[in-house]
Amino acid sequence: MPQLETVVAEIAAEMAARPDRGTVATYIPELGRVDPNQFAIAVALEDGSTVCGGDCGTSFSIQSVSKVFTLTLALGLAGDRLWNRVGREPSGSRFNSIVQLEQERGIPRNPFINAGAIAVTDTILSGHQPREALGEILRFLQFLADDDGVHIDRAVAASEERSGFNNRALANFMKGFGVIENTVDYVLGVYFHHCAIAMTARQLAKAGSFLAHQGRNPATGHSVVTAERARRINAIMLTCGHYDGSGEFAYRVGLPGKSGVGGAILAIVPGKASVAVWSPGLDASGNSHLGRIALEKLTARMGWSVFGAPTMADG
Ligand code: DON
Repeated sequence: MPQLETVVAEIAAEMAARPDRGTVATYIPELGRVDPNQFAIAVALEDGSTVCGGDCGTSFSIQSVSKVFTLTLALGLAGDRLWNRVGREPSGSRFNSIVQLEQERGIPRNPFINAGAIAVTDTILSGHQPREALGEILRFLQFLADDDGVHIDRAVAASEERSGFNNRALANFMKGFGVIENTVDYVLGVYFHHCAIAMTARQLAKAGSFLAHQGRNPATGHSVVTAERARRINAIMLTCGHYDGSGEFAYRVGLPGKSGVGGAILAIVPGKASVAVWSPGLDASGNSHLGRIALEKLTARMGWSVFGAPTMADG
């Protein structure tokens, strides 16, 4: 097997040279201002070290990757009762689609599509002020990354507050079905702000590390969730983490992963590593174009797919 350091450096160089960079999301205007010519990769390992390449120290908007962490928090608060209000099946539709919600009486298909993540945020908000709930989410990420530098990009949050008409429709629709408990504006305020959390690739890889190691963060020794819960969150990432692109991501990369429209992807190599990639240009499903390609190269070269390592016959 090649050295991880070499593979990471090669991938960073290959990605920097590629002309195809995807398209930066513009429906949140502030995200449209990000330079697409950026790429970062960080791999957090069991010994607590991190191997990085590219723009690893640059903070980016984690957007939907935050949904992995809000799901973890909500499961901690509500346990399996969470599944009464959110499903765990792939949706096969876009991340912000409203069509299934009517047919399925306001119960979102899974916690990673926008409707599902809004219902998860509602669970975290119950019994709290929006400011407290948001503080809880931010501190959880700082604790996981072991880094107080994780912060909220207020300009991105304000930009989504002004432009989030689709999410307002989803949240009001669910409220109409009695699926949302709290005031819609409060739920959305917390949701927009947790999507606007900004992290570097290194911080994000470290934050996801507990999912690669049976619920325990190997860098800090903190037990975050049970091994069973970590396994289940990984399963939902594999089946739903890339929306209508989840099948393609499993086929090409072969890892549980969660993408965000800021261009980040968190991918988990169970028992081995937590990987964060970031490149702002997106593909047609709204997932990072170069991020996905980089992960495909990483898993192929390191033999890290959960579906088995490549053999000589693969060519
Ligand atoms: O709610 C939204 O539309 C964004 N804050 C997050 C969407 C997102 O990241 C989808 N991921 N690829």
